[in-house]
Amino acid sequence: MNDPAPVAETAPGLTRVVLGVTGGIAAYKVAELTRLLVKASVTVDVVMTDAATRFVTATTFQALSGRPVLTDLWQTGADNAMGHIGVSRGADAVLVAPASADFIAKLAHGHADDLLSTLCLARECSLLVAPAMNRQMWANAATQRNVAQLAADGVAILGPDTGELACNENGEGRMLEAPALLAALIASRQPKLLAGKRVLLTAGPTFEAIDPVRGITNASSGKMGFALAQAAAEAGGVVTVVAGPSAVATPSGVTRVDVTSTAQMADAVMVRIGACDVFIGVAAVADYTPAATHEQKLKKTPDALTLTLKPTVDILATVAARAKAPYCVGFAAESHDVERHGEEKRKRKKLPLLIANRAQDALGSDENEVTLLDDGGAHRLPRMGKLALARRLVAEIAQRLPRS
Ligand code: C5P
Repeated sequence: MNDPAPVAETAPGLTRVVLGVTGGIAAYKVAELTRLLVKASVTVDVVMTDAATRFVTATTFQALSGRPVLTDLWQTGADNAMGHIGVSRGADAVLVAPASADFIAKLAHGHADDLLSTLCLARECSLLVAPAMNRQMWANAATQRNVAQLAADGVAILGPDTGELACNENGEGRMLEAPALLAALIASRQPKLLAGKRVLLTAGPTFEAIDPVRGITNASSGKMGFALAQAAAEAGGVVTVVAGPSAVATPSGVTRVDVTSTAQMADAVMVRIGACDVFIGVAAVADYTPAATHEQKLKKTPDALTLTLKPTVDILATVAARAKAPYCVGFAAESHDVERHGEEKRKRKKLPLLIANRAQDALGSDENEVTLLDDGGAHRLPRMGKLALARRLVAEIAQRLPRS
């Protein structure tokens, strides 16, 4: 089973969110989303349509958000009866989840006949919509027309997923899970520093086979690589990760190519490199691979066993040496003299930027402390969680990209 995607322990860019809940069984998943947001110190104002209250009670959301739940256009408590305007003022985003086919139709046509539809019209912040419905309702031409209209109006459409539906059918129409909705809310608030840039990353360890059941690998988890992929996608990049064996889940909006050995990783990178603007080598690539892989399992004997290893291809150095190389970023995990060894590596591989860290700090851990090495010298960053660090590194990379 996959590890969860990098956990959002904080929700940068989100202070207050309006969650609009419409009538659908997926409303129960929004209870979990409310909990995740509150845990990340976000103030959540839940607004329910009448139909939504038939599926989950307002009391559930009130208990989770710690705030009154709004259900009625005429009972928002504002002195001047302008509560529908007040609710969305100062909010960072409005997310309608689940969004029923009927509510999507209302939004697409600008109706304002209840509190939620009215505040969606009156809002100043961005609007995200997570549809949830039966697969035929989703596929219906009218729904598709309405969704296309909302997308053209600048509304973010999140999902839906394909899978088992509440009606016991299987197909497209399942609402995204709470962590994916949280990730989309956070992404909506990140500056689009890599808008349209094609970003290729390597992540995780490689595995060099000795025989059919044994091999050489290392302690890299892939957490830093996938955190960077998530941050680059949040920043508007078109992101592909070539990953060695890693249990980390793929962040939404990121394309993943799974490989095993260094040779496979190199091949997967080389076929994609021509079309990319930024290459980030985060993978802990094996430096050596067995000179020959045994086709049958090696038998144990009382004698010492000698394995002959040959060097692997240096993927990052090969990419950086290309005539039209993308902007190349390397990582260096060192056990001592981190900055000196890192700078030597940066020069040898001819990289504009290298991120150096202590191997003991980085491999497998959820936090990291790094130094950026470039032509201007060494820039130390404080210790932080890998996702926060990834967002910071994306900003540092974006700022160094050649102006096109
Ligand atoms: O030489 P070293 O392995 O310490 O360099 C680390 C950097 O080079 C990392 O960015 C890593 O992804 C990349 N690398 C590579 N191919 C290799 C070895 C390292 O791309 N064979």
